[in-house]
Parts: sequence; structure tokens; C-alpha cells
Amino acid sequence: MVEILSDYELDKMRAAGKLVAKILRELEKEAKPGVSTKYLDDVAQRIIKEAGGSAPCVGYGNPPFPAAICTSINDEVVHGIPTDDIILKDGDIITCDVVAELDGFCGDAARTFLIGNVDEKTKLLVQRTKEAFFKGLEQVKIGNRIGDVSHAVQEYAESFGYGVVRVLTGHGIGREMHMEPDVPNYGKPGRGPRIVKGMAFCVEPMINMGTEKVLLCDDEWTIVTADGKPSAHYENTIIITENGPEMTTFEEE
Ligand code: MF3
Ligand code: CO
Repeated sequence: MVEILSDYELDKMRAAGKLVAKILRELEKEAKPGVSTKYLDDVAQRIIKEAGGSAPCVGYGNPPFPAAICTSINDEVVHGIPTDDIILKDGDIITCDVVAELDGFCGDAARTFLIGNVDEKTKLLVQRTKEAFFKGLEQVKIGNRIGDVSHAVQEYAESFGYGVVRVLTGHGIGREMHMEPDVPNYGKPGRGPRIVKGMAFCVEPMINMGTEKVLLCDDEWTIVTADGKPSAHYENTIIITENGPEMTTFEEE
């Protein structure tokens, strides 16, 4: 069942989303060569604490995820664990995926940042992954179906020969970070749940330079591309209001 939020609850989603946007803004400034991924997690944790919020990722799952954010570098697709000994270097790309809860509601967003001089091919992958999100967003309209969004993302990403990750999807969000429905990055138009006012979900293309296939690492969290080629990610939380879709985690650059 897909939960429908009241106007009052949508307002709380806006507040949580704003906090996530603020964290991503700070992380973008801090992500430089020489910085550890643990330091980035510390920055996120501090901002969440100052805002009086909490970090649903801490302790989530089994084995319990040990950090507030996921930091995934180069061929890591998602769920990279921040540590002291992973240090950003020139030419890396890093995805920061941030979930924060404020006053009982969640925001979730991810960005892939460029560290120093990144090669052109990889830069294009990052840019087109963001564009794939916005192709999906064009289909987020009251009366459309989730499959319309999924299809638009897939069609755009595959037009460049990229691999669209299948085993991970976007998701509903609200009082919890992962709720119904699933929001795949591939699919057929006209299929899936209908988009109605009061819904809240995340669209999050995870796009690989090469094969769509991914592997789970021994830490039981980090997911990497099967061919070792880079992967990019772009995510926002979207709420459906009577005026249409609104990204709670997005601010103009
Ligand atoms: N934003 C991530 C997602 O939607 C949250 C991962 S949960 C964690 O998949 F525990 F791995 F952090
Ligand atoms: Co998400």
C-alpha cells in the first residue's frame, strides 16, 4: 500500500528535504583531494545534530550500517561505507547519498561530485545521470504511472549505451526512508502505481559506464560495478502536491 500524506505532513517532508539539501551543499564544498570519506560523514552528522534531526542509516540493516551517509567512489555504485582510510584523490568521482529525518519525516538525496580533474568520459556519465533524473521528473505528473517515470529514465540512459542498474531502485519515502512503491529505473510506460496527490517518493538513477551488472563486496554493503567501470547516481525526494511534483531536496545551483 502506498501511503498518502496530508498537507501538514507534506510540509514536514519539505523541512526534512531542506536539511538534506543543506548537507549536500556542505559536502560538495568539503569533498576535495586529501579528505577522507569518514570526514564527510562527520560533517553530515554534525549538521543533522545541529538541526535536531537524526540519521536513519546509522544502524540500519544487517550488518548494521555504521554511518549517516553512503560514500561511493568510482566503480562503487551505492552504499559505500565512510572510513578514515579512504582518501579522495584527483580524478575521483564520489557519490554522497544522504538521508535525514526531521520531526518524524525523511528526506533522501544523492549527488555524484567530481574531485579535481575528472576525465571527459566520466564527467559526461555524471552529467547524463543527472539529466536522466530530470527526464524521469518530466513524467512525474498526477495521473501518470510510475512506469512512465521508469521508462523515461531508462530510455535516456540507454541511448548513450550506459548500463542501467536493475537490482536497486528508487522508493517511496515518508515516515521511513524506504517505503512503497518501488521506483525502478527501467520499465514500461503505463505500468505500475498511479501518481496521485500526497505521494512521496525518490527517483534515483544509478547509471554505469559499462555493464548494468553489479556485485556485493565482502563488507556486505558496498555495491560495485561487475566490470570495474565507473558509476554515477543522482537522487531527489519528490512530493506530489496539488500543484504537481516538488523536489524537497533540490536547490538551484
Ligand atoms: N539512500 C540510501 C538508499 O536509498 C540509503 C541506504 S541505507 C544505508 O538506498 F543504510 F545503507 F545507508
Ligand atoms: Co534513496
